[in-house]
Amino acid sequence: TLSIADITSTLQKVGLSTVPQERNTYPALNPFDIYRSHISELLAKQTGIEAATIYKTLAWTAKPENGDLQMAVPALRLKGKDMKELAKEIGDNFPESPLVAKPVVNGTFVGFFFKPAALTSIVLPQILKAGPTYGFNPNLGLKDPSNPAAGRKKVIVEFSSPNIAKPFHAGHLRSTIIGGFLSNLYEGAGWDVVRMNYLGDWGKQYGVLAVGFDKFGSEEELEKNPIGHLYDVYVKISKIAADEADAAKALKAEIAKVREEGQDASVKEAELKKIEEEGVDQQARNYFKRMVDGEPTALGTWKKFRDLSIAKYKETYARLNIRYDDYSGESQVKEESMEEAARIMAEKGVSEESEGAVIVDLTKYSKKLGKAIIKKKDGTSLYLTRDIGTAKERMEKYHFDKMIYVVASQQDLHLAQLFKIEEAMGWKDIADKCQHINFGMVLGMSTRKGTAKFLDDILRDVGEKMHDVMRSNADKYAQVEDPDKTADVLGISAVMVQDMKGKRINNYHFDMDRMTSFEGDTGPYLQYAHARLNSIERKARAAHPDLADVDFATQVDFSLLTEPHAVDLVRQLALWPDVFLNTVKTQEPTTVLTYLFKMAHSLSSSYDHLQVVGSERETMLARLALYVAARQVLGNGMRLLGLTPVERM
Ligand code: ARG
Repeated sequence: TLSIADITSTLQKVGLSTVPQERNTYPALNPFDIYRSHISELLAKQTGIEAATIYKTLAWTAKPENGDLQMAVPALRLKGKDMKELAKEIGDNFPESPLVAKPVVNGTFVGFFFKPAALTSIVLPQILKAGPTYGFNPNLGLKDPSNPAAGRKKVIVEFSSPNIAKPFHAGHLRSTIIGGFLSNLYEGAGWDVVRMNYLGDWGKQYGVLAVGFDKFGSEEELEKNPIGHLYDVYVKISKIAADEADAAKALKAEIAKVREEGQDASVKEAELKKIEEEGVDQQARNYFKRMVDGEPTALGTWKKFRDLSIAKYKETYARLNIRYDDYSGESQVKEESMEEAARIMAEKGVSEESEGAVIVDLTKYSKKLGKAIIKKKDGTSLYLTRDIGTAKERMEKYHFDKMIYVVASQQDLHLAQLFKIEEAMGWKDIADKCQHINFGMVLGMSTRKGTAKFLDDILRDVGEKMHDVMRSNADKYAQVEDPDKTADVLGISAVMVQDMKGKRINNYHFDMDRMTSFEGDTGPYLQYAHARLNSIERKARAAHPDLADVDFATQVDFSLLTEPHAVDLVRQLALWPDVFLNTVKTQEPTTVLTYLFKMAHSLSSSYDHLQVVGSERETMLARLALYVAARQVLGNGMRLLGLTPVERM
């Protein structure tokens, strides 16, 4: 990446002797930092106000007409001055600068415009040298920014977390996509990231599954398609369990009636007893008890289900560019951890007995939090109990500075209860570091083969649809090296972009036609923009083989990029590090996507104005370097989201 020395020499060329650098800014990483510091320093000299105060008032503009940075003069909080007058004063007296043009004053706002030639010669080499790291800032994750040796902060991102033998539903899909993005985001900010999958792999239902597998299971099917097969088994056995429950209910009613009539009910009673003692439900309880007691055969079967499911999930996650550091799960929570938590809760008066169960009455903190059961009458733990236990274990194992739960907003109450209980227990060091990142629902998630159940089915269907779309352009299709792979990547992009386009909390409609379209703000549209930039470079290199020897970062005359379309693009590329910073604040993928779409639009309207092949040599080089830089930024943004940018399509 670029060093301060590189930046110094660039700035000297445009006429600035030193690199402007306010505290906690990163001129070698972020061109906007250079400009904010520069403007702050000039204004500090001019007005006597502290540079740090000025720095904070320099904000992005909503419209390029207002400048690249804008100061709302009242934000300076100077008493006893007329703000309009002060704005005018600041504008009028702003000194000559090699980087910034004469400010434009509008009421109490002062707009600063970056001089295009200097901006271009700063930004483009910065991008071309930094490459895949442009925009990211590994300093943000330092425990102590002034002492890197103190190490990095650690974040656990818990996401996806499907339930074994149950469908992978839309909530899991969104958690996977958003959690993958958040992990990349924190990594880009220099945090140590632990990607964790907390599987739903414990509870009586795994007893049900094991009983079902005895009846309906096939080892061969299990090896071939563990997730689908276990689900089928589970559906079949659950049907039997449900039928038995119905039968038991009916028998009870009949027995009561027969007895009332003073008749002998012993036949019916025997039938009922048989269901109660030998039915699926009881068998499952027995089996689960064996698992809890750690009996090797019972645990062995369960572990096999779990391991095979994980192996299969890993393949699917890999298609989404996701890998986990920790496959944890409800089964992994230690009995001791839950017991210890129960003891603390009892001692501190957080929990109480209620009708044989143990509950926590959270209504004393807030009505909405209600009462939560933490131990059932039969002494067994629940989903919530396991979350309490596992939080403590995770702290002991990872010493995290932050832990993010990426879970659907349907579980808002569950997580609010969890955090409140931790706080009440005196586990403030944990509670304060936890954050629930929630999201809305996906409506109508169905594929061509009906309502989608598994992630693989969704991806396969969207991939096939993309393949159809690709085939409709026979010429291009013929040039794509591995059409299946490309269709798969495009399909995944389509699903992911549709998911990340709106704010997380919004619901959206799963719309296969819409998401696979090349028009509008879709995944394929972004991919197309990326592929087109690749094709421009390919064609230029084919026409000019000597380009192989040109270093774009150092051997190109960027001052040739004077056209409005070129300048507009450079201004946008300069913004990417700030967009990244802002995304760290919003934790919203839409912050990135909005930026990328805007850039893709600018790109597509620039091609006619900024031709590469056929232009005079120096101009060709400058434009090509601009497009290569744009592709870099587009690709960096796409990869941050978890997409795989394609080279051809
Ligand atoms: N397996 C759960 C479900 O599918 C999600 C787990 C969320 N994470 C947690 N720590 N509770 O609903």
